[in-house]
Amino acid sequence: MSNKRTIGMWLYQNSGGDAIEKKIIEKLKERDIETINNIDLRDATAQNKNIMHNGVKLNKLDLFFSYNAGEQTIYQTYLYQALNRVIPMINSYDSFQLTEDKFQTSFVLRNAGITTADYRLFHKNEANENFHKILDKWKSIVFKPTEGWGGTGLTKIEDELSLQNLLPAINHSNTREVFIERFIKYDNSDFRVDIVDGQYVGCYGRQAPSNDWRTNVTSGGSVFMRECNEDVLKIAKNAAKACGTDIAGIDIIYDQEKEEYVVLEVNGIPAFATPEQEKMGLDFNNKKIDLIVDLIDRKTQIKTKGKNK
Ligand SMILES: Nc1ncnc2c1ncn2[C@@H]1O[C@H](COP(=O)(O)OP(=O)(O)O)[C@@H](O)[C@H]1O
Ligand SMILES: [Mg+2]
Repeated sequence: MSNKRTIGMWLYQNSGGDAIEKKIIEKLKERDIETINNIDLRDATAQNKNIMHNGVKLNKLDLFFSYNAGEQTIYQTYLYQALNRVIPMINSYDSFQLTEDKFQTSFVLRNAGITTADYRLFHKNEANENFHKILDKWKSIVFKPTEGWGGTGLTKIEDELSLQNLLPAINHSNTREVFIERFIKYDNSDFRVDIVDGQYVGCYGRQAPSNDWRTNVTSGGSVFMRECNEDVLKIAKNAAKACGTDIAGIDIIYDQEKEEYVVLEVNGIPAFATPEQEKMGLDFNNKKIDLIVDLIDRKTQIKTKGKNK
């Protein structure tokens, strides 16, 4: 009896997340997998060999599914790391942490032969010299905080004035590293491709507003229906694989000058389609749920076989 599989889950509740969670839990139940949900590691404590949450020993779970980008805290992430040393997690802590950082991700992608925006990383003490040298070469640069999201903190540098505005801010910041990319000439739209367990889930596009070059919805970008072509799909699959992500949303744009697709970032917790987006015709949620349930089923079978109780 104690062989029954039980997983832990933490999934965002806004934008339709609560309904998605219900469906996943039901489908897991059909496979005889129990779910303990709403496990926010922020409320957990470690007690010798155990990580405890509401009386549950999380380290005894068969798997933990962590899917809440918006409410991630430093403490939560710290326990994510510890827990993943003893039980499987989706995504693994390593790939979660990798995709949280834009430089680390681009570095890994480049070494896997995947095209990203050309980039440079240097210590902030050498910022002035490097910025001038590279601005001279590229003419247009994007400064990116390595851990930002939603387009925040991205700064376009095209002349001395914009550079002189940015440098003091970099100087006063706590970070050591400066990450910059070549500004890519593109049509101000992107592809977001969702991959689960190496398989295609869905694709949509985002169009930047007329007064911005960023496609993020938080920057005023709008989601639109967009088919995924073969090249884009192949790049997305390769990127997900290179990052080791069980679940990934890959952002891709088309470089009009080099005439090639470029991966901008890999998102480790890509949102399900919201109820409004579903009304628009984005219909990949059920497929995504099924692939996630399959994945959890498979990953917990391996664990249970080894468990001798
Ligand atoms: N190198 C670049 N050249 C041109 N546009 C870019 C570049 N990098 C990012 N962008 C634009 O800015 C948006 C946000 O950048 P991204 O790297 O995805 O950071 P975030 O995590 O904030 O979404 C992208 O969706 C794209 O529209
Ligand atoms: Mg992005």
